[in-house]
Amino acid sequence: MCFRSGRVFMQDRIVGGYTAAPNSIRYMVSLQTTNGQHFCGGSLVHRYWVLTAAHCNIADQMMIVAGDYRVNVFEGTEQYAKPHRLVTHPLYNRSTNNADIMLIKLRAPVILNKFVALAPLPRQGTGVVEGQMCRVSGWGYNSVGGGRVPVMLRTVTLPIVSAARCNSSHSFDGNITANMICAGYQAGGKDACKGDSGGPLVCRGRVYGVVSWGNGCGDAKYPGVYTAVARFRRWVDQTVYGSYRHC
Ligand code: ARG
Repeated sequence: MCFRSGRVFMQDRIVGGYTAAPNSIRYMVSLQTTNGQHFCGGSLVHRYWVLTAAHCNIADQMMIVAGDYRVNVFEGTEQYAKPHRLVTHPLYNRSTNNADIMLIKLRAPVILNKFVALAPLPRQGTGVVEGQMCRVSGWGYNSVGGGRVPVMLRTVTLPIVSAARCNSSHSFDGNITANMICAGYQAGGKDACKGDSGGPLVCRGRVYGVVSWGNGCGDAKYPGVYTAVARFRRWVDQTVYGSYRHC
């Protein structure tokens, strides 16, 4: 869990990172309940589509906010979109977290501008190697007694951890499937955490990972686990572009 002590608690959004420059990650979106509670991140991959985690399919009513920086503070750069359709990957398994990926089709397209842009995705089957540096971003929850404070987007840079090490008996012990990638420092301390789910892990300028799961946050033994987007690039294209066949 992320909530071991008061001090760890306050770092719950992106552990060990720093505040991103305003609107510097222009494809980053916030998924919010209709009363404005942020619950997951996502990436804009098309004017009509957001890429996120399947386990973020938790609210029957949600609002997608693009162009946000301080979540819950109106800054004039935000665009709000309602979902038209949620497409969870057919292989998603909530007990193993395999194929933890979902696409959300928006009811109306977002407008691309200085604050909102599309995220580049990796080609199908391309990999990232151990030690490669990637960056994860998110807002996370502030669960302190329900009282929310303005939260700026945060980000942290992390190295990729090999599947062999992540799957070893000292770590996730065989629970990492081919559809997952791991990232984190051997010393721990930097990680995504609760509420960062669905958000992008960006390597070489492309969204290679979607924040999926972990064991605690920033734990030296347990890196963060991300959905391997390159394993689903074809599915993304089929879902996004396949739907225009009957236009
Ligand atoms: N499942 C969490 C969420 O819903 C994200 C967990 C990521 N954890 C980590 N240690 N990297 O927000």
